[in-house]
Amino acid sequence: MQRPLFYLYLSLLVFVQAVLGSRHISRLTTYHEIRADNSTNAAEVSLWWQHSRLVENIKSAMLASIRTRCVLSLRKVSVIVRYLYHCSWEQGTASQAVLETDNPEYSVFGKSPFQDHRNAPTSTLQLALSAVQTPDGRLSQQINDAEDAAALDGASAGSTVLLGSFTRNPRGSQYWESAADKELAYVLSVNRTSNGAISQRADGRQYWADGVFMGPPFLAYYGALHNNQSLLQLAYDNCRLYREALLIDGPTGPLWAHIYDDDTKSWIDEGIWATGLGWASLGMIRVAVTIRKSAFTSNMTEQVNDLVAWTKEILDGAFLGLRTDNLMPDYITGGPSFADSSSSSALASVAYRGAKFFPETFGCNYTRKAAEIREAVICGVDSMGVLSPVVDPLSWNATGVLSTEGQAFALMMFAAWKDWLCL
Ligand SMILES: *[C@@H]1O[C@H](CO)[C@@H](O)[C@H](O)[C@H]1NC(C)=O
Ligand SMILES: *[C@@H]1O[C@H](CO)[C@@H](O)[C@H](O)[C@H]1NC(C)=O
Ligand SMILES: *[C@@H]1O[C@H](CO)[C@@H](O)[C@H](O)[C@H]1NC(C)=O
Ligand SMILES: *[C@@H]1O[C@H](CO)[C@@H](O)[C@H](O)[C@H]1NC(C)=O
Ligand SMILES: *[C@@H]1O[C@H](CO)[C@@H](O)[C@H](O)[C@H]1NC(C)=O
Ligand SMILES: *[C@@H]1O[C@H](CO)[C@@H](O)[C@H](O)[C@H]1NC(C)=O
Repeated sequence: MQRPLFYLYLSLLVFVQAVLGSRHISRLTTYHEIRADNSTNAAEVSLWWQHSRLVENIKSAMLASIRTRCVLSLRKVSVIVRYLYHCSWEQGTASQAVLETDNPEYSVFGKSPFQDHRNAPTSTLQLALSAVQTPDGRLSQQINDAEDAAALDGASAGSTVLLGSFTRNPRGSQYWESAADKELAYVLSVNRTSNGAISQRADGRQYWADGVFMGPPFLAYYGALHNNQSLLQLAYDNCRLYREALLIDGPTGPLWAHIYDDDTKSWIDEGIWATGLGWASLGMIRVAVTIRKSAFTSNMTEQVNDLVAWTKEILDGAFLGLRTDNLMPDYITGGPSFADSSSSSALASVAYRGAKFFPETFGCNYTRKAAEIREAVICGVDSMGVLSPVVDPLSWNATGVLSTEGQAFALMMFAAWKDWLCL
């Protein structure tokens, strides 16, 4: 390199370092301002920076774990019933977790989620693109041969598919819009249960607590984006109807049992599965926040109040059921009580989101619990970013090795914690 060029290069380096350095300093300044104001927050902020190093590994372990095909075996009145799944919820759930982690400005928890912020949410759209593959309209089905009998699971990718319709990407708006339209048409065509809810299964009428995360947030997102109040109402109604069907008196208060079969009028799983509580509360808080961010916020306040009350009901009963190690038991009743980091992370994330958006309901007793749970979860994250112990998502009475949803819930917990700290 010639001498003048070398000096130019050197001064450029110095300049870049000065700019980067000043950004670093300004972050530190903010940090000191927070500390000066509020020592509780300062300790939390410093913990966030310390623990956030885990996030990348938790995320890559999640992405590595998304399955294409799985068989779920259920013991139903002494017969083993085997359900074939394509784990279609794993793709959608992962896409939500990636969005909250990498591009929180586009998540429904962001300030203005339904507008183009002029940056592409690429990592999220990569997952959404993979979900858009099915001729019958459902998302995340084409991985094998589209024989998934879950009616709502594919809808878990619906919101991130719609995100493609108004953000920068090589596919263009129409591509995503039409995939989301097909998914919506499919969901609206699914058989209704006896109380009018959209069934979680296509091969019968069933309510699963899981379904509240899969379907309603997509309906609400679609409704908010397209100014369609009836879809926001439908999202709310399904939360209400699933709760009506699944709520039982538990040992720690009213809580949701896992699965009810509306065709045979019998429980498939009457246990209070902590992950089911996680799915239901994650779904309801998303619908509540989505309604708030929509054009209909002022004439749907009662619906939001209900959703917030039902979310609180779940957190109250769940947190009373915490184990002494600050993790949720796999089941609060009706199943084993081994420690489960998966549901624990989901519920902690809901507590943080609640504290941020509905502080009049979720006071510091919720964020204190969330912090205790969070530290217990983090203790169990290994150097590959894998959470443990976790329940096996396909065998709810057993511990698993690597749970996609557990990893996703942990990312949601980190994202909600960060957002609550205003970082
Ligand atoms: C400090 O932060 C905590 C937790 O967010 C909050 O409850 C408390 O009111 C804050 N105190 C002050 C003085 O701002
Ligand atoms: C609705 O239920 C009927 C039988 O009860 C079944 O034949 C049909 O396939 C179901 N439709 C959908 C879309 O799930
Ligand atoms: C809202 O969406 C539903 C379902 O797609 C549709 O039938 C209805 O016409 C829409 N309403 C408005 C006002 O766009
Ligand atoms: C709800 O509010 C929207 C927007 O302000 C308005 O267009 C709509 O007519 C209202 N709907 C009802 C049922 O009050
Ligand atoms: C938090 O405090 C409120 C108000 O006292 C109470 O209703 C709620 O049950 C408490 N929740 C938890 C999880 O401690
Ligand atoms: C899980 O175990 C409980 C007993 O601990 C049993 O009642 C229940 O049927 C089992 N559930 C499944 C899905 O195997």
